[in-house]
Amino acid sequence: MFSRRTDWKLTPNLFTQAQHEALAQGREVLDLTVSNPTRVGLAYDADVIVSSLADPRAMDYDPQPKGVRSAREAVAAYYRQHEAFDVDAESPVLTTSTSEGYSHVLRLLCNPEDEILVPRPSYPLFEFLADLADVKLVPYPLLYDHGWQIDFPSLYQAVNHRTRAVVAVHPNNPTGSYVKSEERSALNKFCDEYNLALLVDEVFLDFALDGVPRPTFAANQEVLTFTLSGISKISALPQMKLAWIVTSGPDEQVSSALARLDVIADTYLSLNAPVQLAAPMLLEVRKNIQPLLIDRLRSNLAELDRQLAAQKECRRLEVEGGWYAVLRIPATKSDEELAVELLQKQSVLVHPGHFYDFVSAGYLVLSLITFPAVFHEGVSRVLEAFDH
Ligand SMILES: Cc1ncc(COP(=O)(O)O)c(C=O)c1O
Repeated sequence: MFSRRTDWKLTPNLFTQAQHEALAQGREVLDLTVSNPTRVGLAYDADVIVSSLADPRAMDYDPQPKGVRSAREAVAAYYRQHEAFDVDAESPVLTTSTSEGYSHVLRLLCNPEDEILVPRPSYPLFEFLADLADVKLVPYPLLYDHGWQIDFPSLYQAVNHRTRAVVAVHPNNPTGSYVKSEERSALNKFCDEYNLALLVDEVFLDFALDGVPRPTFAANQEVLTFTLSGISKISALPQMKLAWIVTSGPDEQVSSALARLDVIADTYLSLNAPVQLAAPMLLEVRKNIQPLLIDRLRSNLAELDRQLAAQKECRRLEVEGGWYAVLRIPATKSDEELAVELLQKQSVLVHPGHFYDFVSAGYLVLSLITFPAVFHEGVSRVLEAFDH
């Protein structure tokens, strides 16, 4: 009755089973995996946000496939303010989420069974997005040696006649590594050589921990580039469902891509009017929430370092940006077994590295947006478990 593409193994794994058990027992668990910014005690401009959704113009239905002009201009202004470069307001195509943006771009570029190259470790949702688009994921490794870097020899080995695009996550989740400028040039060269598009996920672009803004790929002109972002992270408003695709590159390719994206978007017309009309304000409020979030990320990271300095078993990997930190732990068991043990014995929830496709055992991922008091106590329970 069902399609092969939805033939997922849906039975809970050991880790989710252990979470269900803890919940059923009513145990109080310190959750160091939170990725929902609306539940970590941040002071949003709630009145401004909610009243922006009550624009009377929302009573008019104006079906614009790429989104209403004022919302696309707000996206263009975001890039202008980010690094003083002009995105044509005609270029952004609005979507309800970055996931929908991925789906549109995969539909645009790939025939069934075509391949896209994705970084490993990275974001676990790729697998489902690719399955739903009948696309095959081929991982290319990121290597860690005093910071993360793209393994270009492996990228060259992974490409074949079915490859359509390279995905980069800038900065990557969960490694927190940005694509460096020499890597950007090498990616452009690679895509040019094999006639591939670049698909760059920049949802965490603005969360550089050193406060130095990193360049966006929305300005990349060398090859056909689709830059995805949205307010789920930029303004910490995942519930508002507003994201976008910015297309850049050689003129002819960009105009063909946009004409086709227009049809894909027109087929769904998925954005609602209130959110589109509120887009300028929903983007504007990032200026208040981002400093609060960056403070949170930095103070939790400092707390982690303070606790790590007092022991020898665990260390953290370098992180440049984003909302996560990766902990290197003694690989005495699989990451999943260790995460289950931490939950059962220490009542602390962390993500095992294999969740993000780390190639070997010995990694845990911690969310840096966690409430500071929970983070403090949670980290101390994690480290205690490895203290011999
Ligand atoms: C790298 C990355 N891209 C995209 C998303 C999801 O964004 P959206 O809510 O806009 O679909 C996430 C969410 O955690 C993410 O980590």
